[in-house]
Amino acid sequence: MNAKLGKQNKLSSGSRIISEDIEKLARALFDYKEFFAGKTFLITGAGGFLGKYMVLLLRHLNEHVLEQKASAILLDNFITGYEQQMIEDENLIFRKHNVIQPFFTAQSIDYIIHAAGIASPVYYTKFPIETMDVGTIGTRNMLELAREKKVKSFLFMSSSEVYGDPDGRYVPTPETYNGNVSISGPRACYDESKRFGETLCIAFWKVFNVPAKIVRPFNVYGPGIRPDDYRVLPNFIEHALRKEPLPIHGHGKNTRSFCYINDEIEAVFKLLFSETNGEAYNVGNSEPEISVNDLARLVAASMPYQVDIIHIDPPHAVYASSDPKRRCPDINKLQATIDFKPRYPLEEGLDRTIQWFRGV
Ligand SMILES: NC(=O)c1ccc[n+]([C@@H]2O[C@H](COP(=O)([O-])OP(=O)(O)OC[C@H]3O[C@@H](n4cnc5c(N)ncnc54)[C@H](O)[C@@H]3O)[C@@H](O)[C@H]2O)c1
Repeated sequence: MNAKLGKQNKLSSGSRIISEDIEKLARALFDYKEFFAGKTFLITGAGGFLGKYMVLLLRHLNEHVLEQKASAILLDNFITGYEQQMIEDENLIFRKHNVIQPFFTAQSIDYIIHAAGIASPVYYTKFPIETMDVGTIGTRNMLELAREKKVKSFLFMSSSEVYGDPDGRYVPTPETYNGNVSISGPRACYDESKRFGETLCIAFWKVFNVPAKIVRPFNVYGPGIRPDDYRVLPNFIEHALRKEPLPIHGHGKNTRSFCYINDEIEAVFKLLFSETNGEAYNVGNSEPEISVNDLARLVAASMPYQVDIIHIDPPHAVYASSDPKRRCPDINKLQATIDFKPRYPLEEGLDRTIQWFRGV
């Protein structure tokens, strides 16, 4: 995968926007510094969108905050990540590894974040077996490792897609909603493997006391997202910057709720360090729940020139009949567990993301 490498290079060679984000994230997590100090983390999917922010945060904490440095083992097989962009130093060690295989190390491990996955519909359609394997066998392997290492905490990055296409009566969607998920539809390889991954986490907590937590992210966006990821927001921004019409698949009335990456990562670490186990948490921003039409208008209005909006036939089955109509998290359970309030309104997060796309 080497498309748009120039833009991706901004990650390691220093984007001002990303540096500011990481500094703010470190400040938001300052009270948790003892949880980081001298600890060893294992992060799967460390070369991905969210994984990279986690790694940059650890590097920043080591350089500016912690006396006793944190260490990390970073795993990725780059099925969708960019190998050239892996961030490493003497404390943050990268190992190219497919988590479908067990991972062995003599090192002790304090915390595991299992973030490996194939999240973009276009890529999970291309790699359905790999998508199922990483959510199921990969999760099992990481839980076995957590058990062997007696970790302090294990966190599985599941997905809001476990809810499928929720009944409107359950939007905003609470964790208690069991979902409306197709068993065999175009999204099933992703949705069902995340559901089974969650079931594994609960069973490992109940049977082996592995202190597992589950996060269900809702549409995370921000700097570092793959420009060629095909998800709606990067897709609109890419078109807008090229002064091309923003393509809405179908009628555009479906809604989403977007969460800026800093808010997501802050909540992930706070949950990782929390005491509640065997529980799933929505992590996202419930405001605004915005239609794709309105999102397109917002992106168009953020440009200093006229950008048109067009409606096209969905190019892909995942965006046609199976596209969930509404997506909005109920975050009451999360807020009852950790101190969390999304800090980035959509306009601000969008502005930061566009600046990064422009190379800032
Ligand atoms: N970004 C979002 O909005 C969002 C929403 C819901 C869930 N999630 C979940 O959060 C996690 C991180 O999301 P992201 O946006 O950073 O995704 P991403 O696609 O940017 O990164 C995931 C990384 O995992 C790696 N990977 C995939 N299969 C692997 C395997 N078998 N072994 C090792 N590495 C493997 C990929 O190469 C990639 O670098 C994923 O599990 C995703 O399903 C993300």
